[in-house]
Amino acid sequence: MKVVTVIGARPQFIKAAVVSRAFQQIKDCKEIIIHTGQHYDANMSDIFFEEMSIPKPTYQLNIHESLHGAMTAKMVMGIETILIDEKPDFLLVYGDTNSTLAGSIAASKLHVPIAHVEAGLRSFNMKMPEEVNRIVTDRLSKHLFCPTETAIQNLKNEGYDNIDCNIHLTGDVMLDAALYYQKKNNSTILKTLNIAPNNYFLCTIHRAENTNEIGRLSSIINALNELNKQYKVIVPLHPRTVKYIAEYNLKTEFAIIDPVGYFDMLQLIANARMILTDSGGLQKEAFFFHKFCITLRDETEWVELVQNDCNKLVGANEEKILLATQYFLKSNFPQHLSLYGNGRAGDKIAAILNQ
Ligand code: UD1
Ligand code: UDP
Repeated sequence: MKVVTVIGARPQFIKAAVVSRAFQQIKDCKEIIIHTGQHYDANMSDIFFEEMSIPKPTYQLNIHESLHGAMTAKMVMGIETILIDEKPDFLLVYGDTNSTLAGSIAASKLHVPIAHVEAGLRSFNMKMPEEVNRIVTDRLSKHLFCPTETAIQNLKNEGYDNIDCNIHLTGDVMLDAALYYQKKNNSTILKTLNIAPNNYFLCTIHRAENTNEIGRLSSIINALNELNKQYKVIVPLHPRTVKYIAEYNLKTEFAIIDPVGYFDMLQLIANARMILTDSGGLQKEAFFFHKFCITLRDETEWVELVQNDCNKLVGANEEKILLATQYFLKSNFPQHLSLYGNGRAGDKIAAILNQ
């Protein structure tokens, strides 16, 4: 079996680490990795390849445009040429980024079967670029690897029973990653930052809907400034958000640090008092480590977390952020919930493709 994998953004490196490891266990399986270049800073890209022993990409497209159309178009052109040369059995893509969409468009034009990991997720907000990317990718895919029952149901609701494709419930590769790498974790980030377990809030912000609107971003920042009086707030900040905080001249009173690698991040999550985030991945990682999560968005693809009272959707509303935090500080985390599989999603995906 020959697979071409297209990745380009931080969470995709983490997911690809899991499935690449599973491919390596299969005899006569060859994986060729294309890195689109969507994320390019050392701490947004290289660090994951080094820490997680992800095979070095065979192709590095180095595309980092800011306009989505231009970015996607250049990626499609680069990937198309490679697919013509490599003639793989499958093209493998993850999640919902512009790199995912580009891979899917290029492969579909060449009739290369597409395998989509994290299929079926929906926010039902068509203004999110990710929603467009995942809907198109799902529709073009032959194998749809769904992390949750909700994802399967979303596809059924869209009529996928009548579409020629294969839908699989696999569990979530991010659970595989968290379980596997946390066992190997020797991060000393708590010492470096001089913070104690259960004594800080951990926050990340990067979604366009929050960063590109001064009203939303300043409301989140005000809430974090307030929370920082109660527990230290630690924010490993995406470069996009750094740029907007400076541009809007917002005053921050909490600890902003550079983006960290996966080991440091797992350590920060595992020891946090609570998580506040607009990240998709972090919402689940909070759950894996039994931490409550305040989601700084108006909707989530991971609805089972909200339904099970582990996660609250508060948008960018300062008052709601503060109220939800105080509510969770007084709550006990629900135990024994298994929402994302058994930590073997990567093996299952690799085995299905190898059939
Ligand atoms: C992208 C994905 C989003 C995912 C996120 C993971 C899309 C549409 N969005 O959003 O689904 O949650 O990755 O983090 O694909 N930048 C740098 N250095 C970098 C990377 C980005 O400075 O290494 C800055 C650039 O100014 C860039 C901006 O961040 O224009 C936004 O990057 P982009 O990849 O377009 O979007 P993300 O917000 O990272
Ligand atoms: N992450 C990381 N370092 C950071 C911020 C995030 O390693 O400084 C990890 C995080 O633990 C999760 C993944 O990156 O595994 C999520 O990426 P991101 O929030 O950028 O994207 P999303 O999941 O929202 O698509």
